[in-house]
Amino acid sequence: FTSHDGLLELDLETAPERIRIGDREVSMLAFNGSVPGPTLRVAPGDTVRVRLRNSLDAPTNLHVHGLHVSPEDNGDNPFISVDPGQTFAYEFTLPADHPPGTYWYHPHRHGYVADQLAAGLFGAIVVADLESIPVTRERVLVVSDLTVDSSGNLASPDLMEQMMGREGELVVVNGQVRPRLAAAPGERERWRVINACTSRFLRLQLNGQSMQLLSLDLGRLAVPREVPEVVVLPGNRVELLVEGQEGSHTLAALPVDRGGMDGMMGGGMMNGSRPGASAPVELLTFQVTGSPVDALPPVPAAPAPRDLRGEPVEGRRRLDFGMAMGGGRMGPGGGPGMMAFTINGQEFDPDRIDADVAGGAVEEWTLTNSSPMDHPVHLHVWPMQIVEEGGRTVAEPRWQDVVNVPAFGEVKVLIAFDDFTGRSVFHCHILDHEDLGMMGTVRAR
Ligand code: C2O
Ligand code: CU
Ligand code: CU
Repeated sequence: FTSHDGLLELDLETAPERIRIGDREVSMLAFNGSVPGPTLRVAPGDTVRVRLRNSLDAPTNLHVHGLHVSPEDNGDNPFISVDPGQTFAYEFTLPADHPPGTYWYHPHRHGYVADQLAAGLFGAIVVADLESIPVTRERVLVVSDLTVDSSGNLASPDLMEQMMGREGELVVVNGQVRPRLAAAPGERERWRVINACTSRFLRLQLNGQSMQLLSLDLGRLAVPREVPEVVVLPGNRVELLVEGQEGSHTLAALPVDRGGMDGMMGGGMMNGSRPGASAPVELLTFQVTGSPVDALPPVPAAPAPRDLRGEPVEGRRRLDFGMAMGGGRMGPGGGPGMMAFTINGQEFDPDRIDADVAGGAVEEWTLTNSSPMDHPVHLHVWPMQIVEEGGRTVAEPRWQDVVNVPAFGEVKVLIAFDDFTGRSVFHCHILDHEDLGMMGTVRAR
């Protein structure tokens, strides 16, 4: 779906669907019958109207991840609930200076988010470039993971897996098992990679083939940077430039140690359970054969991203992401929560305001982690500039909308609460943690 004359209008329906994954038919949930859902292509300044019809048997809603749109419109509203059988009309407008890049959409109904994403509800949003980037072709690559049982249903995670953040056994790209991409030597491709996994961190490496990082989450780097590998957190997007070199190359997701539950609940069964510490996963093959093509012109440099350092900071806060014994709530699976997932000791309450900020202000947030597991922290609407990480100052201005706060570590970010007022949220993008309570509200007034 592409916008015309500044407007994109479309219908989206969430419904159960049998989806072919590899050689199996799997009972999943889909937007308009496909996993991923349709790609939405818009430009800065566009208005988007979506009629969302919910044909699931559970409540849902729609969130446009990473878009800088008003929380007073409904495009970014995680508080809306669209009940089964209902239709909801969304409308929002991107500011004329909205950063280009790769974004995505997914449901955000608290308590159902991890289940609905793991079942297949997500899709890409592409915001058009300001100036064109010379490439032979562009590909949108949405990575997700799932575990299928012997009868073709998705396995439901037990409480332990939810606390760890579920990771599917099968990692797929656009719903395909290890797809094969073909190119000729010398061709330049732009890959827009979205990590739509509910919990899995992706450390991407393309063997025998160089890749350049063009964008991480939003906007683009001033100059594309050669990278041997890149970590894509749940919710992050990267744009990679890949220049075809003769041969067969594999894009792999290497293991990432994102911590575990060591020491929680007095140790015991918790000790030693570390998700993500498994073998590398092959995501796709990049097959470069045929006669070489002429080299494309170089990628033009972009203006350096904004740097908030040097602007007056009007507010400072500390937010601690923690896990503690005795979460009182019922888990979405129906069992009693054994562990609470909290921010500053509190579980999510949509009626409480956790961060009350002045519209237009720049704030410095210190995100700390008092637990033995990493938490990739996401703030809606307003992107974060990472200024300090692991005790070190970050040299270049680096903007992301999901930032990893490592186990027992901390990260300092600057946020400009520009353009909009209204209420939104920040949360761990390990979506099981979000559903278990690790989410807070922010209000710009
Ligand atoms: Cu990708 Cu609050 O979500
Ligand atoms: Cu989001
Ligand atoms: Cu988390």
